[in-house]
Amino acid sequence: MNAQAMPDMDEQARAILRGNDRGGYTVPTAGLYPYQWNWDSAFAAWGFATFDVERGWDEIETLFSGQWGNGMVPHILFHRPDPGYFPGPEVWGGIGPVASSGISQPPVAASFARRIFDLDPEAGLPVVARLYPKMLAWHRWFMEWRLDQGAVCITHPWEAGRDNTPDWDGAMAGIDPKDVGDYTRRDTFHVDPEMRPTKYDYDRYVWLVRLGRRLNWDEAALLEQNPFRVADPTMTFTLLRAQRDLAALGRILKEDVSEIEAAIAVLEAGAETLWNAELASYDARDVRSGQWANCVSNASFLCWYAGIQNPAMEAQYDRITSVCTYPVPSHDPSSDRFDPKRYWRGPTWGIMNALIGIGLQDCGLVERAENLRTSTADLIREYGFAEYFDPLTGDAAGGGTFTWTAAVWLGWASPSRPKGAF
Ligand code: DGY
Repeated sequence: MNAQAMPDMDEQARAILRGNDRGGYTVPTAGLYPYQWNWDSAFAAWGFATFDVERGWDEIETLFSGQWGNGMVPHILFHRPDPGYFPGPEVWGGIGPVASSGISQPPVAASFARRIFDLDPEAGLPVVARLYPKMLAWHRWFMEWRLDQGAVCITHPWEAGRDNTPDWDGAMAGIDPKDVGDYTRRDTFHVDPEMRPTKYDYDRYVWLVRLGRRLNWDEAALLEQNPFRVADPTMTFTLLRAQRDLAALGRILKEDVSEIEAAIAVLEAGAETLWNAELASYDARDVRSGQWANCVSNASFLCWYAGIQNPAMEAQYDRITSVCTYPVPSHDPSSDRFDPKRYWRGPTWGIMNALIGIGLQDCGLVERAENLRTSTADLIREYGFAEYFDPLTGDAAGGGTFTWTAAVWLGWASPSRPKGAF
C-alpha cells in the first residue's frame, strides 16, 4: 500500500463526481448512463457529502423531484433528452412530474440521508424535514404494492439494479417476448457486449417495459398481469434497513414512527420467507411459480445490512470470499452460471461491497468488514473507478470513471473517509 498515493485517489474520486455532475444531479457515467439513476444518486449524494454536504443534499432533493403521485420514485429521471440511451422517455412513458421510467430501484436514499444528516446535523435538519414525508411515501408504496408474505417483489429485472443476475433466470424464462417489436440497443455501443446482458435478456427487458406502459404503470393491473414478479433479497434487505434509518430520522423530527415500526416487523418476517433451507442461504423467490432461484448472490449477503444475523450466511460468505481475489462476486463462483465479466452474473461491485461491509460492521463481524474494506480499496486503487470488476483477476469492466465507485471510495473505502456511523 502506497501512502503517497492516497490523497491522489481521493482527489480523483472527487474529480469523477464533479465531472459527472450535471447540476443538481449526477450521471452514473457519461455515455452509457446519461441520466439520473435512483440508487446511483443516493451513493453520489453520500460521496459528495464527504466534501460538500449541501451538494449531497441537492442530489437527493433532485431525485425526489421526480416522485410520482402514488409515492413511487422512478429508477431513471430523464431530466434532459439524450439520444445515446435506450429505452428513453418516449418508450417508458412514465406518469410523474419529471419524464421518467416506470419502475423503482433499491430504496437506499433514506439510509444515505441519515448518514449525511450525521455528517452535519444542523445543516441537515431542515432538509430532512422536507424529505421525510417523501421518503415515507416511497416506503409506503413498497409496503402497499410490492409485498409477498412480507418480502419485497420486483416487477422488472432492472428494478433490483441487478439486471441479468441468474436470480431471475427462471422468471425470465416465463416471458415470451414474441411481440416485442424492433428496437436498437445503445449500451453495446458504449461497452463490450461480452460484459453486458444478452439479446435474450434485452428482448424480455423491453417486453416488460412495453407491458407496463400499456397498463399505464397501474400497479394493481401489473399485479394481475405481469408474469415477472420475484421476491428479492436486494429490495427486501435495503427497504428493511431504510425503514430503520427513516425511523431514526423520524424520531429526531419528533414524528410518530409507529407505522414504520410496524413495517419493520412485517419486513423482518418477510426476509425469513427468502430463506432457502436447502441452499442454506437467502435467495430470490419467484412469486408466480413458487420456485427458488437457488442462487447465493451478493444480495444474499445484504442480510447484515438489514440487521439480520445468521451464522449459515457467515459460512457462505467465508466459502465464497475464499475463492476470489477480489470478493464479493455477484454470483457464486462454484455455480455453472458464474460468468466473471458479465455484469451481475459474477463481477464484484463496489456499491454492494460497501453495503455488505457496513452491515458486517454493524453486526459486529468486524474482521470480515475490515478485510472487505481493504480488498475493495486495493481493487479500486489497482484497477480504477470502474463500474464493476472481475472477482478473480480484478480487471475493470463496464463503464469507467463511475460515480458510485468514486462515492464508495470517498465514503467507505478511503483511509480518509469520514469517521462515525457507517
Ligand atoms: C441499463 O440500461 O442497462 C440499466 O441498467 C437499466 O436501468
